[in-house]
Amino acid sequence: MRLALFGPPGVGKGTQAKLLVHRLKLKHISTGDLIRSAIKLNTSVGKEARSFVRAGELVPGPIVRKLAEDAMTECGIDYFILDGYPRTIEQADWTTEFLDGHNAPLEAVLSISVSDEVIVSRLSKRRINRETGEIYHLDFNPPPNSVPPDSLVQRKDDRPEAIRQRLQVYRNQTFPVEDYFERQGILHRIDGLGDIEVVYGRLMSVIVSHVKSFGKSRQLQD
Ligand code: AP5
Ligand code: MG
Repeated sequence: MRLALFGPPGVGKGTQAKLLVHRLKLKHISTGDLIRSAIKLNTSVGKEARSFVRAGELVPGPIVRKLAEDAMTECGIDYFILDGYPRTIEQADWTTEFLDGHNAPLEAVLSISVSDEVIVSRLSKRRINRETGEIYHLDFNPPPNSVPPDSLVQRKDDRPEAIRQRLQVYRNQTFPVEDYFERQGILHRIDGLGDIEVVYGRLMSVIVSHVKSFGKSRQLQD
């Protein structure tokens, strides 16, 4: 199964990807997570990417392309869900070219949307567990008491100016990618408003109805 989650910053891609990978036994390929890990490790990719991420700008495409293609290759170009890639028309072309070259096209692009107001409220109170990568929201998905408060961190690009810039970048450079996949007949729009479990139910119902390989999935978990 080869899926992509698409949508603006803070819409819930990472949250939903974690639920879907558990249920469908997919590899979660988040270019944002891969870049943040490179920044933390201070690799050459991390050094190059750091200033772009903090400013809410896109990291230069060739860097992200290599991260995404290496990750897809590692899982045999199957059983993955892309999160945050592709996010420009150029990256969409690379993805199509790469996957078609392996005779393994994307089966569905699941585009989640909510209003900008909801995005700002979700991002401003997001917290991440630095040890596990678990995503929380102080009001909507609070961390359990077992999580020590000092392991919860706020992302550097969740400052108000960076959020505004990320939304602008989304509108100008990323949103057109929806049409690109609509023309390929694999785009599905999902309302992202509502509880996490409700949005997950909407995603699963699209997958069950429209993704042919669903019936051939590996053993599913409850
Ligand atoms: P990336 O990490 O991909 O960030 P993003 O796309 O801006 O999205 P986020 O991770 O902020 O949000 P999300 O949709 O995953 O929401 P989440 O589930 O956390 O990219 C970061 C940066 O890396 C980019 O700005 C760029 O610099 C670079 N980069 C990455 N990919 C790139 C690429 N392809 N090309 C170039 N550069 C690239 O949820 C958000 C909050 O909402 C959480 O607190 C969560 O608990 C809460 N929440 C989730 N769902 C719900 C719900 N249903 N109800 C209430 N609260 C909810
Ligand atoms: Mg994310």
